Amino acid sequence: MKRYRLSVCKGSSCKAGGADAVYAAARDALGAGGLVPRCELYRGGCYGFCHMGPNVVVREDTGRKKDPLSPEDYQLMGWPGEVYYSEMTPEKMKRVVEEHIAKDAPVRELFGQPDSGDD
Ligand code: FES
Repeated sequence: MKRYRLSVCKGSSCKAGGADAVYAAARDALGAGGLVPRCELYRGGCYGFCHMGPNVVVREDTGRKKDPLSPEDYQLMGWPGEVYYSEMTPEKMKRVVEEHIAKDAPVRELFGQPDSGDD
């Protein structure tokens, strides 16, 4: 079983779009699934894809030492196992926890495209 770090953007655009409810849904789903020991829940951002929010980044916890400048809290790093989910809702968040975190099965149809949007 993999371990994860799940970050919900705390930037103002994502918050305005409902990121706090997405965060609450993640917390509740992790608790309900008994997944708290396997997934650290965190608030990162702003990631710079504000128009795509609420944004969520899931990374595999490899025990990597945290960079003192924490660039991973503000940008995608391209690390193996890193997944970016865009336009999240509480319902989508629950699904990501139940599939990606619980079953190690990333939800491809919800993957965001950080380079594609300028709407
Ligand atoms: S506010 Fe979330 S990416 Fe900018």
